[in-house]
Amino acid sequence: MNRRIIIFTIIAMTIALIGLMGIQIYWIQSASAIKEANFRRSVNEAMVKVVQKVERMEKSKAMLTNQYESMLNFNRHLTYDNFLTVGAMDTLIKLQLNIRGVDTRYEFCIYKPERQEFLMERSPDFRKELIEKGNAFILFQADIYTSPEYLLIYFPHEKQFLLTELWGMLLISIILIIVIVYSFTYTITTIFRQKRLSEMKNDFINNMTHEFKTPISTISLACEALADKELRGSGEFLESYLSMITEENKRLAGMAEKILQTALIDKGQLKMKREKIDLHEIITDVIKNLRIQVEIKDGEIKRRFKATISQIEGDKVHVTNLVYNLLDNANKYSPKKPMIRIITENASNGIVITIEDNGIGIGKNEQKKIFEKLYRVPTGNIHEVRGFGLGLNYVKAIVEEHKGRISIESEVNKGSKFKVFLPFTIKE
Ligand SMILES: Nc1ncnc2c1ncn2[C@@H]1O[C@H](COP(=O)(O)OP(=O)(O)OP(=O)(O)O)[C@@H](O)[C@H]1O
Ligand SMILES: [Mg+2]
Repeated sequence: MNRRIIIFTIIAMTIALIGLMGIQIYWIQSASAIKEANFRRSVNEAMVKVVQKVERMEKSKAMLTNQYESMLNFNRHLTYDNFLTVGAMDTLIKLQLNIRGVDTRYEFCIYKPERQEFLMERSPDFRKELIEKGNAFILFQADIYTSPEYLLIYFPHEKQFLLTELWGMLLISIILIIVIVYSFTYTITTIFRQKRLSEMKNDFINNMTHEFKTPISTISLACEALADKELRGSGEFLESYLSMITEENKRLAGMAEKILQTALIDKGQLKMKREKIDLHEIITDVIKNLRIQVEIKDGEIKRRFKATISQIEGDKVHVTNLVYNLLDNANKYSPKKPMIRIITENASNGIVITIEDNGIGIGKNEQKKIFEKLYRVPTGNIHEVRGFGLGLNYVKAIVEEHKGRISIESEVNKGSKFKVFLPFTIKE
């Protein structure tokens, strides 16, 4: 996919996501406003009912005690302690609120602002809140001779009560948003990973074609020469062409083998033999094979066998390839006079092999990636040094099969140091 299309999609999706979140927040806010309005209405209705009931109670009490007439004349009402206890008032309010679904703690009082007097209260702790934030309902409105008295009600946990009614909706919204954001980032990272993989595969195919082309064309040239009857006459030529064909054929087989091994690693079908092998012998053999290539560049491979026990349990072919790959890299990525050192040491239960070079080195960010399949550190010109990016992936798989460890220390333009630990015995 085109990079611009991906970036455009990301921006579009981000905007859509932010938009959706905005709409969600708006809906929740409106829902909360509606809840609050409902709450206010229920409280109002309940308190109007309470006021009516209180007034009715006062009237019947006045009638019973024959004070009705005198009261009516003066339009005065009885004092509260004559007909209403705090407990009765509390029951009345609770009933009316509960009928309307208002089930949260409340505080109430009857207050006379003119004399700043509390005519009835449950506890004096909420006076300030009741006066400042409470809802007020006038009592005995018809009583025009006394200054107004108010029934005040205050809900200390009003916010929490409204929120608990909304929390279900909030929770679902938050979960949905998290799911969407997670899927979104997962999709984007997958797209980028796939894109990188497809680029690496392209590089690999390019590399492979180049790598295969050289030996193929050398072989075909040699075959052409051999087809020439005049040339075939000379034994010396015949000999050199045949060895050329054999060499190039070996190279081709080696490359095909490398690709096949990687396929086996992928499928988890790498077959390991378990035999006693001597690491010092293996290293000496590999150095013998590589020495000429290093010396051509005026370089040197030095070995220091400090390990006193050099035998381990493992697969000779794979361990040879492992050492070969590391030494081959040390040589390939040291453009000038490679000075390569290979050291073995005994650790408590195995052998540590250190391979050090003075080459181009690997940056911190790349160090994690070089063990990935097909990964090659990007340089200006990737074909400067030939390779498939399979070597270290294979090395890592072999180290893991032997229950060992591999680590790297490297600095750009200074050199690299690979450390491989292989245990004496492979314990599952
Ligand atoms: N000793 C080293 N010094 C500097 N860079 C290195 C060294 N070893 C590996 N690298 C970097 O790590 C990359 C991966 O190495 P790896 O051996 O897996 O692949 P390769 O050498 O490119 O190809 P091949 O499959 O032929 O080995 C290399 O392309 C190179 O950029
Ligand atoms: Mg390599």
